[in-house]
Amino acid sequence: MSRFSDANLAIADDIISRYPVKKSALIPLLHLAQEQEGYVTDDAMRHIAELTDTTPAEVKGTGSFYEMFKFHPVGAYMVNVCTNLSCQLLGGEELLDHAEKTLGVKAGGTTADGMFTLEDVECIAACTEAPCLQVNYRYKLRISHDEFDEMIADLRAGKAGDIPEHGTLATIRQSIPAGMGAGIVPPEEASEAPVWLARNDSPDGES
Ligand code: FES
Repeated sequence: MSRFSDANLAIADDIISRYPVKKSALIPLLHLAQEQEGYVTDDAMRHIAELTDTTPAEVKGTGSFYEMFKFHPVGAYMVNVCTNLSCQLLGGEELLDHAEKTLGVKAGGTTADGMFTLEDVECIAACTEAPCLQVNYRYKLRISHDEFDEMIADLRAGKAGDIPEHGTLATIRQSIPAGMGAGIVPPEEASEAPVWLARNDSPDGES
């Protein structure tokens, strides 16, 4: 299945309803598509385009700006090894070499069993904890070669800990409590200041 499932279509409709312009929902819908299939399929992009009155090219043009969206199948676990400056100084490139040997694939590749995709990535904002990596965007800090091998063995044995399930790269669902919506209306229909602006005003009139 590549278009949204019935359940996800209901979620997509709810997401779209939050925006005055359907096109504004592109990013959360791309997350939803990736959550469903593990990557954003061509059919999912066509479906998103139908739902948002855009074209598949606009959907891909938006999503492809962001590294975390994948447009091809990836492994159940994305292993992103940082080789940027701090990590490089503290063994990041050696860690990547080791990861390539352990997994039997070069950076950018996916293991034959579909379990792991290895990536060489830029800074992941944990420079004080170098060398570091992420597995499905969960951090592993100051990781040694032996710890890397243990981590891979655990994942192969089904001991994933706090790492999300197979194919799920996006697990965050936006939840807006009742009464806390932004109250956005299309600009051409606006007759007064937006709700969020009034809410931000302090009682004494200062904002
Ligand atoms: S350089 Fe590796 S996390 Fe910043």
